[in-house]
Amino acid sequence: MAEPVVESAAKRLVVLVSGSGTNLQALIDAIAETGPGAYGAEIVAVGADRGGIEGLARAERAGLPTFVCRVKDHATREEWDAALAEAVAAYEPDLVVSAGFMRIVGKEFLARFGGRFVNTHPALLPSFPGAHGVRDALAYGARVTGCTVHFVDDGVDTGPIIAQGVVEIRDEDDESALHERIKEVERRLLVDVVGRLARNGYRIEGRKVVIQ
Ligand code: GRF
Repeated sequence: MAEPVVESAAKRLVVLVSGSGTNLQALIDAIAETGPGAYGAEIVAVGADRGGIEGLARAERAGLPTFVCRVKDHATREEWDAALAEAVAAYEPDLVVSAGFMRIVGKEFLARFGGRFVNTHPALLPSFPGAHGVRDALAYGARVTGCTVHFVDDGVDTGPIIAQGVVEIRDEDDESALHERIKEVERRLLVDVVGRLARNGYRIEGRKVVIQ
């Protein structure tokens, strides 16, 4: 009799968004195309810091549970952070992915999800961290920029780098044209990285991330 095939279960992902959610859509599409088993992960919920965004609409169209945790609904930033951590924890994720989530999480969130909280940033870190990575690279006159998928630590875009993609800056670029080209690379990179982390496992050794 053939040995039963023991497949390790797909890892549970919670994805956090603040805007258009095209990176989220890339994950949704990749999982739908490959199947959660082969991809290695499934999205169990999508969270946002605001309502009425296309990112949430994409999640709803895909039939995924959603939640919103607004800073202004909490007395302090710490209370918001704890509420966000609680909302995410309710879905028991193996990995949390910040895909265009425009908030810095705090101590409580990192205490619970540090080492399994992945962010994507539209610049080649450590250059141009912060909310305007695309604009800042253009203004600096850099000739190449790109995107970085990294683990989140307690700094702003300072955590261990998992993977990067390079995009050339063209003379005629403005912020929006450049950001669109970065996002094409970013979506593929994020899908690839999250799948590999989920399927293979990984360890973080200081600043180095080793995917098994
Ligand atoms: C991405 O470029 C991400 O790195 C940045 O915001 C963009 C989000 O795009 N922080 P989308 O919402 O996934 O379309």
